[in-house]
Amino acid sequence: GPDHPEARRADGGRDALLMAKVTVDGRTVEVPDSTNVLEACRAAGVDVPHFCYHPRLSVVGQCRMCMVEIEGVPKIQASCTVPVRDGMVVLASSEKALAARNATMEFLLINHPLDCPICDQAGECKLQDYSYAYGSGDSRMVEPKRRYRYEDLGAKIVIDKNRCIHCTRCVRFTREVSGTHELTVANRGSELEVTTYAGLSMDSNPLAGNVVDLCPVGALTSRDFRFNKRVWYLKPIPTISRHSASASPIRADVDANRVWRFRPRPLG
Ligand code: FES
Repeated sequence: GPDHPEARRADGGRDALLMAKVTVDGRTVEVPDSTNVLEACRAAGVDVPHFCYHPRLSVVGQCRMCMVEIEGVPKIQASCTVPVRDGMVVLASSEKALAARNATMEFLLINHPLDCPICDQAGECKLQDYSYAYGSGDSRMVEPKRRYRYEDLGAKIVIDKNRCIHCTRCVRFTREVSGTHELTVANRGSELEVTTYAGLSMDSNPLAGNVVDLCPVGALTSRDFRFNKRVWYLKPIPTISRHSASASPIRADVDANRVWRFRPRPLG
């Protein structure tokens, strides 16, 4: 039928014209019909918290932080995994959605250390921000947290697995963007860990630094920048990379007339 994806492609880009009206928390927006609910909420000005979703990576619905209620759907849904439908009504800030995020935060924090005072990500950490917004401020866990030592993933990247929340953004980056496949998820359950495949280092990956930026928490850190500066002192200056001839857009984070770190700068 005309709704089959192949039929649309044969129609010469009619795809772009197919729009869906979606109402999020009472605000109606029109978005392309391939959009996911999380992006539709963003378009409506409602920021749905998320860890594993990244617009340039595959969608895995792993972290369960982006839960919303959708009218007519009995169970709450991970908004990154659901495509919009015309006429959809989303309740992104309902009691049920907030309770689900609160429960997710409690699970994510089971093994997460309270080391924000010495963590490089503090000040730009999604886990920190969301625990202010959605966390209970309390823990029911009496069991000891699991502990790992820092590990070098080559000369540039250091991983602190204690802080990892297994969103797998970094793993997907090495598979889908750099194509180098060094990172993988090993083991199961409470033993789950992100590690390098067969002990590979990330040194031969020229894009390795991006995993530090992609990591929503302080698990992947840059050896150059670790423990050097608190991020709230830094002023981001948009500039162009001098690291290669491809003129990649980057940010230089500057303080006291010195560049402390470089970060990728998404366009648009
Ligand atoms: Fe949707 Fe992680 S952002 S499940």
